Amino acid sequence: PYAKTKDILSKAHNEGYGVGAFNVNDLEFIQAIVKAAVMENSPAIIEASEGALKYAGDGDVEKGAFILADMVRRYADAVSVPISLHLDHGHDLKHIMAAIKAGFTSVMIDASDKPLEENIRITRQIVEVAHAAGVAVEAELGRLMGIEDNVASAESVLVDPDEAKRFVTETQVDFLAPAVGTSHGAFKFKGEAKIDYERISKVKELTQLPLVLHGASGVPAQWVELAEKYGADLSGAKGVPDEVLQEAVKRGINKVNTDTDLRIAFLAGLRKHLAENPKEFDPRKYFGEAKDFVTEVVRDRMKMLGSSGKA
Ligand code: G3H
Ligand code: 13P
Ligand code: ZN
Repeated sequence: PYAKTKDILSKAHNEGYGVGAFNVNDLEFIQAIVKAAVMENSPAIIEASEGALKYAGDGDVEKGAFILADMVRRYADAVSVPISLHLDHGHDLKHIMAAIKAGFTSVMIDASDKPLEENIRITRQIVEVAHAAGVAVEAELGRLMGIEDNVASAESVLVDPDEAKRFVTETQVDFLAPAVGTSHGAFKFKGEAKIDYERISKVKELTQLPLVLHGASGVPAQWVELAEKYGADLSGAKGVPDEVLQEAVKRGINKVNTDTDLRIAFLAGLRKHLAENPKEFDPRKYFGEAKDFVTEVVRDRMKMLGSSGKA
């Protein structure tokens, strides 16, 4: 059924496993994720960014929020596993309100680019509005960058555990996304993948909340190779290896944000289908194969994170 993100993540926090939060913009990805959740008997969080709302609404964010929420609810209510819908990286109060009105069961307020006091003030304001509507809130602390990116010191971008404790007490957020060394997209690390496990443990100990890892895609080599075999150029692509994610989950990560892996799997399926079937022009065929690849990549994540069988 259509579920609350908070129920899905409280269980994951109490039992110590990770749940994938998968980004969507359209009907195909929603179908692929719900299908994977059913096959794995796993909970799933579907998330949509502000850009996704705009895309789904053909330029109208509010309309997009309703369209995505209606689709997710329909697909979710037709299956027995819990599926929730979350607003990813909300920046604009208007967009957050649109998601709440449309029935998203959780929203993210991302004011992590602001100074701490301002992040606290903005986040607290969103928590008040969201909680009044029974909607849970995720916030982010620190800045999402690789440990060795062009920054003076890791300390200046990674989450400060003591600040995290103060932040959750003063804002009453439900889930916290601490910056621990990952970044968005397909090119996360130049050398070896590095994330700060100790910092995750410390934040978990001090906050006792479900923690969120952004930029968590694995960028699996087999999907990159398949996409490249059919003409894509993803040279230098590198994600978070499975073992690193599993250790992060052990340390307290429960929501594992994944967009890039789904994009690459879809791209590989689409390119393969089009290359092998030059006479094909039925979108249900070429989206069909792409969608099946997304289901595969989502199932792999559910197994790897330990959410399979936890519906
Ligand atoms: O965190 C970003 C997600 O991958 C969504 O990306 O803003 O391009 O929809 P987007
Ligand atoms: P990836 O780019 O690693 O898939 O991260 C997605 C994300 O964090 C969405 O909020
Ligand atoms: Zn993110």
